Parts: sequence; structure tokens; C-alpha cells
Amino acid sequence: MKVVAIITLILGSSHAFSIDRREALGFAATGVFSAYVVPPVETANAIRLPGQGPPPLFKVCELLETANDIGKIGIPKFKPNSIGSPEKHIPIIELDGQTVSMSANHVMTPEHYIQYMWLKDAKTNEVVLAKELAPSENAPLLKARVPSGVTLRPYLFCNLHQLWKGDEFTVA
Ligand SMILES: [Fe+2]
Repeated sequence: MKVVAIITLILGSSHAFSIDRREALGFAATGVFSAYVVPPVETANAIRLPGQGPPPLFKVCELLETANDIGKIGIPKFKPNSIGSPEKHIPIIELDGQTVSMSANHVMTPEHYIQYMWLKDAKTNEVVLAKELAPSENAPLLKARVPSGVTLRPYLFCNLHQLWKGDEFTVA
């Protein structure tokens, strides 16, 4: 059974999938490289293919890690843990039995906030749980109940300081 099927989100609002700025990634996939190519951020919204809505949240999170700029195939657009202060962006993991709480010491304001938080299965490298956040939330928090023995890696995306990832952890 896939982990994704049995992880349940405990807390957190369920925002509709909305796309703005950097989230509008990946609609110019190249068949040759099967990679996602991203235009400059200011033009990202202009390239959505006709008839296509925003990608699923899990896909958005995958793309934030894997997308490339046009002309830079193989070079990730967002280099993890490279902009901003680590103490504000490295995901913090707390375990209470099978309950995982992922947070960060980061502000949540309209100008500066954590846009996405997600967990990947370290074994399969799949996104197994993802949350889109609104700047009106009190704090960046993703809470989930996870099966024992699963090893996960936490990620988040700040609207100003981009992609950050934390250390793997295993649920007892
Ligand atoms: Fe930030």
C-alpha cells in the first residue's frame, strides 16, 4: 500500500488550489527531456496551456523542486537552502508517536510567508503529503499521522526565500 494512501492530514485549512506567481510552473514540459521548463516568474502566468487548470498540489510541490528555467535544463530553478536564514526556514519536525508536526520559525504576512509545506517518502522520493498555506495563518504548520517505519523528508517554500528542505526522519 502506498504511504500516500494512508497518511491523513490532521490539522490545517484546505485551501483550494490556486496559482499565482511561482506556482504557475511547468506547463511547458519538453518531450525530449521530460523536464519542466519555467519562464521568468513575471511571465509564468502567461503560458498556461488552453483548457488547463492549475496542477494538483502534489505536482506543484514536485515542480518547485525539479523545475528548470528555459535554457537551463538539468539546473533546478530553485536551489534548496540557499537564500535567507536557515534558522527561519529549515523545517522543524516534532514526533509524538505516529503524529508528525512540521513547522518553521517563520513569519506569516502577506509580504513574506511560507506558501507550501510537504513531506516526501525518502524511499520512493514521492510527495506523500502537501499543504498550501495562506499568509493569514498564525504559523506555518503541517500536522499528519504517519505509519510506523516510514522515513520522510520535509520541504517548504517561502515566497521570498524559495525552497528549503530538512533532514530525513523515521517515524517510530
Ligand atoms: Fe522567508
